[in-house]
Amino acid sequence: MATDVHRPVTTEKVTTAPAAPAPSSVVRVEGLTRSFDGRAVIDNLQLDVKPGEFVALLGRSGCGKSTLLRILAGLDRDIQGTVLVPRRKAVAFQAPRLMPWKKVWRNVLLGLPGKPERAVAEQALTEVGLTDRADAWPKTLSGGEAQRASLARALVREPDLLLLDEPFGALDALTRIKAQRLVGELWQRRGCAVLLVTHDVEEAVLLADRVLVMDDGVIAYETEVELDRPRDITDPRFAELRAGLLERLGVDTAAEAA
Ligand SMILES: Nc1ncnc2c1ncn2[C@@H]1O[C@H](COP(=O)(O)OP(=O)(O)OP(=O)(O)O)[C@@H](O)[C@H]1O
Ligand SMILES: [Mg+2]
Repeated sequence: MATDVHRPVTTEKVTTAPAAPAPSSVVRVEGLTRSFDGRAVIDNLQLDVKPGEFVALLGRSGCGKSTLLRILAGLDRDIQGTVLVPRRKAVAFQAPRLMPWKKVWRNVLLGLPGKPERAVAEQALTEVGLTDRADAWPKTLSGGEAQRASLARALVREPDLLLLDEPFGALDALTRIKAQRLVGELWQRRGCAVLLVTHDVEEAVLLADRVLVMDDGVIAYETEVELDRPRDITDPRFAELRAGLLERLGVDTAAEAA
């Protein structure tokens, strides 16, 4: 059950600019700027995420979503501004990035400190419905299975913050729906905060408490999704939120419907 919900969150500072962590936030970003070759892709960005909150991040291709995610994951420290994130965090990318020469269960434990037991991997694999694939080689997994193995690898870290960069992007429609459902269930069971980067507006409204739109290096727009769970995509308020977000993204919904 919800093992992590009440655990106190320890935060770490990625940079040293003075800013006190707000206890009500699991992520606090202030004045974040990241430039490549003199061009600011992220430009004085602010962001707060509450413990246990599910946040979806939308934005046109190249607007800096993955750059922001990598910074939050601690994979890119060449930044200005303040970034406070929990020490316990995990990231899963669009491509599952499994090591082909290690069996699935060993991939799940890869990079964990100490000498974790196989049972730790097995428990996470069970959570994602992959109990019987523990001894498989990554190349024998289907796309959806590989993605679930990647999720299991994130879960064994018992994250307070789970960072997902288009984790369902490469999946077929049916597998994608199942994977979305799984992430929703894992989030509710684990109680960790989630930041999900996606191009799929419907997916964002289906899963998130709050949807952000990134543009011009900042969070240009955000909206709370105050719909009961599980979400009903036939609810007119669902369609309204979806249409509003598509408009923000510059998608012509009339043309889309045609
Ligand atoms: N290491 C790098 N060196 C130079 N430019 C980079 C680097 N990483 C990212 N960029 C540039 O920063 C911009 C934002 O890239 P990013 O990958 O964050 O976009 P994104 O919003 O995730 O896009 P997509 O939706 O296509 O995945 C792009 O113009 C990209 O070319
Ligand atoms: Mg990206």
